[in-house]
Amino acid sequence: MKPFLPRSLSSRLIGLMLLALALSQGVSLIVYRYERAHAVRTMMREECLGRASSAVQLMNATARPERDEVLRLVNTPLARYWMSASAPQALPDWEATAKAALLHPVLGNSGVETPSLFDPEQDLCVANPGEWESHPASYWPIGMPLQLVELRKWNGYGIVVKLSDGAWLNMVYAKPAHLSNTTPAPGYYVTLLSTVIIFSFAAWLIARHIAQPLRHLTKAAERLGRGEEVAMLVEEGPDDIRKTMSTFNRMQVRLRRFVEDRTRMLAAIGHDLRTPITSLRLRAEFIRETETREKILATLAEMQAMTEASLAFASSEASAEVTRSVDLSSLLESLCDDLAELGWKVNFIGKGEKIAYLCRPDALRRALRNLIENAVRYGECARVDVKPSAENVEIIVQDDGPGISEEDRERVFAPFVRLEASRNGSTGGVGLGLAIARSIVRAHGGDIVLSAGSPGLCVRVTLPRDEEQMAGELKQRL
Ligand SMILES: Nc1ncnc2c1ncn2[C@@H]1O[C@H](COP(=O)(O)OP(=O)(O)OP(=O)(O)O)[C@@H](O)[C@H]1O
Ligand SMILES: [Mg+2]
Repeated sequence: MKPFLPRSLSSRLIGLMLLALALSQGVSLIVYRYERAHAVRTMMREECLGRASSAVQLMNATARPERDEVLRLVNTPLARYWMSASAPQALPDWEATAKAALLHPVLGNSGVETPSLFDPEQDLCVANPGEWESHPASYWPIGMPLQLVELRKWNGYGIVVKLSDGAWLNMVYAKPAHLSNTTPAPGYYVTLLSTVIIFSFAAWLIARHIAQPLRHLTKAAERLGRGEEVAMLVEEGPDDIRKTMSTFNRMQVRLRRFVEDRTRMLAAIGHDLRTPITSLRLRAEFIRETETREKILATLAEMQAMTEASLAFASSEASAEVTRSVDLSSLLESLCDDLAELGWKVNFIGKGEKIAYLCRPDALRRALRNLIENAVRYGECARVDVKPSAENVEIIVQDDGPGISEEDRERVFAPFVRLEASRNGSTGGVGLGLAIARSIVRAHGGDIVLSAGSPGLCVRVTLPRDEEQMAGELKQRL
């Protein structure tokens, strides 16, 4: 069922409204048909009684021998009259006589006989259910008892009246199906069509009213997820949407405050550690024993480097870089070229096709630099590749080093974590590179995953692309 459901809010709303409309129209059509049939039957009964009363009065005033001839003239295409000597027989026998009478031709205006309107197979084939109803003289204005039967299957009535001289007048009235119009008038279809149009338009308006603010919200959430500055949403639309907007706005304020507090705290700690480290270093200079002094000074230098790195990170976090669209391929290529100029073994193996990407380029460059730096430092060389796909862009940095064992692959992202293997070398890092890189990539809505390369380490950076990113790319291509 799911794949057939319309996807957008407006098409669902329109579908639902039309379904409700179809249901209500169906019910009202059934009620309309039932009431119409009832009204038509009542009218037909009145008409039959009227015709019968005229015929009774005419027969009462006509001498017996002339009655059959007069009745032949009175017959109409839908009604037939005949005389009988006795009261009506059982309904099936009377029906047989009535059927024969209805199938008999009638005299037209010009005295020419016209064939019967009835088809014996279609209009008069089935027997009618029901019984003769006897009604007293007071039943109708001419004051004579009568017997009446509703001929449902023939769409008509049968009436038998005993005349004042004891003879019986019979009348049958029926209407062939093809003469009774049961389809709704054209006006009905016009009304239905205009209702469908009005309902669909109303549904579309309502959906637009809801969908537009929702679209703004989606875009804002997407941008907030990428760590961009997002303007406060205008709280508009229906109550529920308005509430969602204001909740989003409040969440955004809280998030921003939280990040700012965290960065400020990091900066404060880094700053406050500088003074005791400096004073310790001054005191350490007075230690006479050379070996101990050198060791303490080395540790203090390491501590200072850590503090400076933390401070640098905190200040870069605090300076809000503007998001803009850049070509990721050329960003990577120029970064690799810059590092190669420093004498590093860095190789950009991407195809160089244009990949427009909305990001904070300086921060992203920093993150990628950290990864390439690691590859060169611990893996001798770096091979950098970039692969765009519909949903994201993947940047892969590979090296020829020893790699990182599976159990350490998550741990190395923690700040100040350095693996034993790299501690004893002259590599000189503080263990913040991966933490910073991941923080930056996650702020763009992406992630970094480490895996075993062949050989060495394979670092995979995934950056998400959304509609806005694609639109940016399109704009750049044009
Ligand atoms: N490509 C790699 N191959 C092998 N080990 C790696 C690789 N990249 C990182 N590591 C290990 O992960 C540890 C953490 O790396 P990270 O970049 O966070 O810090 P660092 O390089 O030691 O110092 P910093 O980057 O702050 O100068 C490194 O010390 C190293 O042991
Ligand atoms: Mg590093």
